[in-house]
Amino acid sequence: MEKSGMFEELRTRLVNDLTANGRIRTPAVEEAFRTVPRHLFLPGIDAEAAYRDQSVPTKRIGDDLVSGASQPSVMALMLEQLELQPGQCVLEIGAGTGYNAGLLQRIVGDGGKVITIDIDDDIAAAAREHLVAAGLGHVKVVSSDGAFGYPDAEPFDRIILTVGAWDIAPAWREQLSPDGILVLPLSVGGVELSVAFGTVDNYLESRSVEFCSFMRLRGSLAAPRNAVRLGPDGGPSLEVENADNIDLEHTYDLLTGASSDRATWVRTTGEEVFGGLGLWLALHETGFGTLSVRGEFAKRGIVPDLFGFSSGARTTSTIGLVEDDSLALLARGAGHSPGNRGEDRDGTFELIVRTHGTNSDAASRLVKAVRAWDTAGRPSAKDVRIRAHARDAASGPNDDGFVIEKPSSRLVFNWD
Ligand SMILES: C[S@@+](CC[C@H](N)C(=O)[O-])C[C@H]1O[C@@H](n2cnc3c(N)ncnc32)[C@H](O)[C@@H]1O
Repeated sequence: MEKSGMFEELRTRLVNDLTANGRIRTPAVEEAFRTVPRHLFLPGIDAEAAYRDQSVPTKRIGDDLVSGASQPSVMALMLEQLELQPGQCVLEIGAGTGYNAGLLQRIVGDGGKVITIDIDDDIAAAAREHLVAAGLGHVKVVSSDGAFGYPDAEPFDRIILTVGAWDIAPAWREQLSPDGILVLPLSVGGVELSVAFGTVDNYLESRSVEFCSFMRLRGSLAAPRNAVRLGPDGGPSLEVENADNIDLEHTYDLLTGASSDRATWVRTTGEEVFGGLGLWLALHETGFGTLSVRGEFAKRGIVPDLFGFSSGARTTSTIGLVEDDSLALLARGAGHSPGNRGEDRDGTFELIVRTHGTNSDAASRLVKAVRAWDTAGRPSAKDVRIRAHARDAASGPNDDGFVIEKPSSRLVFNWD
């Protein structure tokens, strides 16, 4: 087969899958994915890999991954959240390979304008080259810190971040047109959500919330370190809101030491826990964290397989509370039949709390929080309403809820 035919076939297969699984929902987003050739943004990458529904790492600094092409299904989800219209003016922060900027330009059409920013000169230069190769050289690529937006071309109908933020920069609010939409990956107490905000009066209010996972923003709005490795190479990774105060050695000793189990008396499913309990705990309890481990290490059973999502490369992960002198982790209770990961035939399992360490406070708090989530009707993260006020703004009406204060914004979470 001709090379171009092969690329087209691979692209068609990917787009068909994204449409079938509901990640692509509108004809405009579908058309862009069918037209813009992802492989031109990933030169030197095997064609099959360029059209897999996977992120592709492209730049590291030391051990840290600092750039890459995002996972197509997450890109599709965020482009749908952005509700783009032809002719609009769009700012993207996180140019990376330039592929998402190409999709944005394709959707807004020749009457629209796309500006994409990357903090690294070399990344911006490569994105520019890829866009030219794809016939999308009219996208403007800027090399600067996206925390300041792009004042020369404001206001923007749409602003999208394709890099993880943990606060909302004043520039993004100020440069958004009054009826504009801002979509960004926002870290909330250790849980990462893709939030689409619109402006209401003088604050931002969420229009939709999805799950996502992104590398973090660098530069003037860089978040505290949130992910650390415990134990030897290949050991468990721990994600928390701020990992700077974690004693890595001691936490690893706790995790590999003795434990005891407590019942919560709540039966649930992996989807319900992943989709709702995580955010509930992150908002209500201090010390919320996610632990995961893959490969050979996972087989040792140190990290409970709470979600049951493991596929090919075996990964186990769980959530819980991390304190100086104890760890309280969620796990599945013993199942009714062997080899079923604790699940009953209907896919439900009993949620238990596994405690490591001598202090049982975290375990008691975790049991109580799980029961409160159950009593509240097991709210899902996708149904949460988020209001984002500028940090110094007065509270608005109906501002009761769970409040998270960030340096530039006050986030209020509510389940109606
Ligand atoms: C996941 S990649 C973006 C993927 C890209 N949209 C694509 O389609 O390939 C995240 C990018 O954000 C960039 N970045 C990180 N911090 C930034 C900042 N403060 N301002 C602008 N770009 C930033 C990184 O250099 C990286 O290239």
